[in-house]
Amino acid sequence: RGPDTLSPTGQETGVPQEKVAQGGEFLTTAQGTRLYETDHSLKAGPRGPSLLQDHHLREKITHFDHERIPERVVHARGAAAHGIFQGYGSAGQITKAAFLGKDVETPVFVRFSTVLGSRGSADTVRDTRGFATKFYTSEGVFDLVGNNIPVFFIQDAIKFPDVIHAGKPHPDREIPQAQSAHDTFWDFVTLHTEATHHTLWNMSDRGIPRSYRMMEGFGVHTFRLVNAEGATTLVKFHWKPKLGVHSLVWEEAQITAGVDPDFHRRDLADAIESGAYPQWELGVQTFPDTEDQLFEGIDLLDSTKIVPEELAPVQPIGLLTLNANPSNYFAETEQVAFHLGHLVPGIDVTNDPLFQGRLFSYLDTQISRLGGPNFGQLPINRTHAPVNDMLRDGMHQTAVHRGAAPYHPNSLDGGCPFLAGEDTGAYIEVPEAVPATRKVREAAASFDDHYSQPRLFWLSMTPTEREHIVAAYTFELSKCWETAIKERALQVLANIDPELCGEVATGLGLPAPEPTVKLAEPDPSPALSQLGATWPLD
Ligand code: HEM
Repeated sequence: RGPDTLSPTGQETGVPQEKVAQGGEFLTTAQGTRLYETDHSLKAGPRGPSLLQDHHLREKITHFDHERIPERVVHARGAAAHGIFQGYGSAGQITKAAFLGKDVETPVFVRFSTVLGSRGSADTVRDTRGFATKFYTSEGVFDLVGNNIPVFFIQDAIKFPDVIHAGKPHPDREIPQAQSAHDTFWDFVTLHTEATHHTLWNMSDRGIPRSYRMMEGFGVHTFRLVNAEGATTLVKFHWKPKLGVHSLVWEEAQITAGVDPDFHRRDLADAIESGAYPQWELGVQTFPDTEDQLFEGIDLLDSTKIVPEELAPVQPIGLLTLNANPSNYFAETEQVAFHLGHLVPGIDVTNDPLFQGRLFSYLDTQISRLGGPNFGQLPINRTHAPVNDMLRDGMHQTAVHRGAAPYHPNSLDGGCPFLAGEDTGAYIEVPEAVPATRKVREAAASFDDHYSQPRLFWLSMTPTEREHIVAAYTFELSKCWETAIKERALQVLANIDPELCGEVATGLGLPAPEPTVKLAEPDPSPALSQLGATWPLD
């Protein structure tokens, strides 16, 4: 890292600028040998067969044959940008993370994505959007790998292959769920009613953002922050866009998907190129780190639940500004590898079973996607902090390690002076009691309520937003072939709200079922009056 990776405008690009393609005086082979011709293969006469001897032909075609790497198994389509994060210092009481200190500036790389479409799919489909941020802090890399929706479909990572198999294109026709036969997606989300909350957000205007610049971002899970004294606080991370939250309407989204499938990536790149740098404030909702990890009756380890901002306001802790476009899509946007396990001192995990599974999944998938365990050495993934590890060799190793004794302790290389003291460094586990008395394959009873928060969301919508939600459910469910799946979906909607269910049922030409759960009544308490809803449902 150094001046050689700065763009002409002074931004860190992660790519050595002197390696700009075709910058030299003549074309060479990969070995630097000068070529005199690259337009004709070597042949036995002008009309004869090509000769195996032609090294340049073989090198050129072989390299081309291997240009593609597997796309991400999810979030394959993305667009990214470089930027700067500036800490406000307001989180100093609750975390020792250095990059959140007052006026500390940290380079970042942010990748936005859709979840289900392949690399070549359209931007403006109805889907969740990824919002992943890599902070190159002085204490190592911190990755905040979030979405634009504050809840998730499932509560336990073991269900992730199931929900993605159900949401990806049907295996026989490879037709995306977004605009054709939808049976597998709706089959899954109606058999797993914990998906109701996320699905409702998807069917709302939040499912079709106007621009990446106008999206909120959420860390979704509850994290644990640790301050310099070792005191802990539970938090949920939020990104608030300075431009506000704006959506497309469905007709715009559909037309745009045809006319300009690159609409969101073009918008992001154009805005940055023209100097209209998008900005987000990072904020946290804070909760006491109690033994039960409940806040106002809400289980903080359940990723299908929010904590309403009326109950725990979002407190700003820093500012993100995206101010430089990538100079090479493959080197940066495609090869960047985010991981929830990339933590810095002062930020720790919780026992949320979705979070726990993600801690395994990202490194595992990247070993296959990026060809072995050394992708951390790729320029875009390289930390800006000094590295002194004992990891060695492996596919695509580019470091030339010195020394004879990569093990600890050793008596040959001067011992291991790099080990931190007892109370510094990351991955120092908070000595939290683990409440288990037996091994189980079950969820906590506090994960059981699947309808109160979807109802809270529905009741907080304006009449126009409700119209959009009704239209979205009606359109999407009308694409299901199986009547039984539509009927099950109507039962889920009845358990959210009879008006929502009734209107969708009318649109589908099916009877509206009665709710099978007790619906929450509007709450007169001032804290929630803005939402017009009750929390919690007893
Ligand atoms: C990729 C977010 C749940 C596995 C991603 C990306 C985001 C994201 C933003 C794209 C990163 C990029 O731009 O490169 C989330 C959120 C989740 C969630 C917010 C829930 C709160 C899960 C779960 C699993 C999982 C439960 C697996 C158990 C993956 C995998 C990738 C991925 C395998 C591809 C990573 C790569 O190839 O680099 N996720 N995800 N995710 N996610 Fe998740």
